[in-house]
Amino acid sequence: MSNRIDRSPNDLRAFWMPFTANRQFKSAPRMFVAAEGMHYTTEDGRRVLDGTAGLWCCNAGHARPRIVEAISRQAAALDYAPAFQMGHPKAFDLANRLIDIAPEGMAHVFYTNSGSEAVETALKIAIAWHRARGEGTRTRLIGRERAYHGVNFGGISVGGIVTNRKFFGTLLAGVDHLPATHDLARNAFSRGQPEHGAELADELERIVALHDPSTIAALIVEPIAGSTGVLIPPKGYLERLREICTKHGILLILDEVITGFGRTGAPFAAQKYGVQPDMITCAKGLTNGVIPMGAVMTTAEIHDAFMTGPDHMIELFHGYTYSGNPIAAAAGVATLETYAEEGLFARAAELAPYWEAAVHSLRGLPHVIDIRNEGLIAGIELEGIPGEPTRRAFRAFLDAYERGILIRTTGDIIALSPPLIITREQIDELIGTLGEVLKNLD
Ligand SMILES: Cc1ncc(COP(=O)(O)O)c(C=O)c1O
Repeated sequence: MSNRIDRSPNDLRAFWMPFTANRQFKSAPRMFVAAEGMHYTTEDGRRVLDGTAGLWCCNAGHARPRIVEAISRQAAALDYAPAFQMGHPKAFDLANRLIDIAPEGMAHVFYTNSGSEAVETALKIAIAWHRARGEGTRTRLIGRERAYHGVNFGGISVGGIVTNRKFFGTLLAGVDHLPATHDLARNAFSRGQPEHGAELADELERIVALHDPSTIAALIVEPIAGSTGVLIPPKGYLERLREICTKHGILLILDEVITGFGRTGAPFAAQKYGVQPDMITCAKGLTNGVIPMGAVMTTAEIHDAFMTGPDHMIELFHGYTYSGNPIAAAAGVATLETYAEEGLFARAAELAPYWEAAVHSLRGLPHVIDIRNEGLIAGIELEGIPGEPTRRAFRAFLDAYERGILIRTTGDIIALSPPLIITREQIDELIGTLGEVLKNLD
């Protein structure tokens, strides 16, 4: 006997979709069946311009031949190798290539399967590192209001999005939060980094004074907070956080899951903003979104502190069955080759002024209360319908899809992050169509 009421293969009920309004979706499904370059193809044969690189991950666009070939070749040659106590060359190759493009000081790579797992891994390494150096009282973790660090318990604890936290109990103990940097009154319609708000970094001094540095392991922040609606760091803010962390022996983890791999016009936002982290978490663009993979990069100082004791002993009791999976590693190598061969990070930097001018041309359209941008990222904040948060932006999302562009919304904010291969004409098409959506929005 089947558990299913309707046994047709296209019955939509069994799949409980993530971060989705399931009932709305299943009453009017939006299905992609193919993708190439800058476009998706829908089930009914329409082409949709990708304004979001999938979910901030397909930085080189879709169905890139080098990546497709690498995956199929790898699957045929070595499909899986045990991740513990065994290795395979591609994982080492990818780690070296990652370190080659990483900010100064990054020396080692620990693989995960997602951004969420990269965050958990970095938080665990931070606490274990202090313990390994004889400072085992440093267990507290500091995050930031409105932050998104994935969906696992560590990530939602240091994260600051209320809907991602309130349903899930008491979370991790010993966590505190900096205030968010969003400041519409002073910074609305900033181009690039806003002028005001560096002083918000000083809140870290207040938190340190409250708990004492001897209890604090790490601060984790997104250089640009993406999932909460694109919050660009005020000028001087990240530098100040770095100074305070250094002063008090607190590790600085930059969560670069969306800002990595050229999104800001530099390989990582750490390089764009000239801030040196102790660890970086990344995922998404690491494999161009093709195969799940995440990573934590650390300094030699962090890694080396674990390399003690008898050499037959495991140094860090942490890892995943799929850490450094051969097919993911092959996808990663081919992805980094594609970025390099096509100069996509430099391309993003070159296109950024055109992108900035295009997105700011939406100023003055109905309901638009802020526009912010950096690299090939933009956030367009709409005034919400009183008493019905998210409804207005969701309407914009549905209308945009009907008009042939994929945008992303979070709260009442539209977030754009197209593949770095976008052309000027496609920027015009994306922003022109979005303008039509906004003009017609209730
Ligand atoms: C900054 C940041 N950290 C972590 C994550 C979680 O990544 P994943 O969905 O791969 O678990 C995301 C996802 O958007 C992110 O933006």
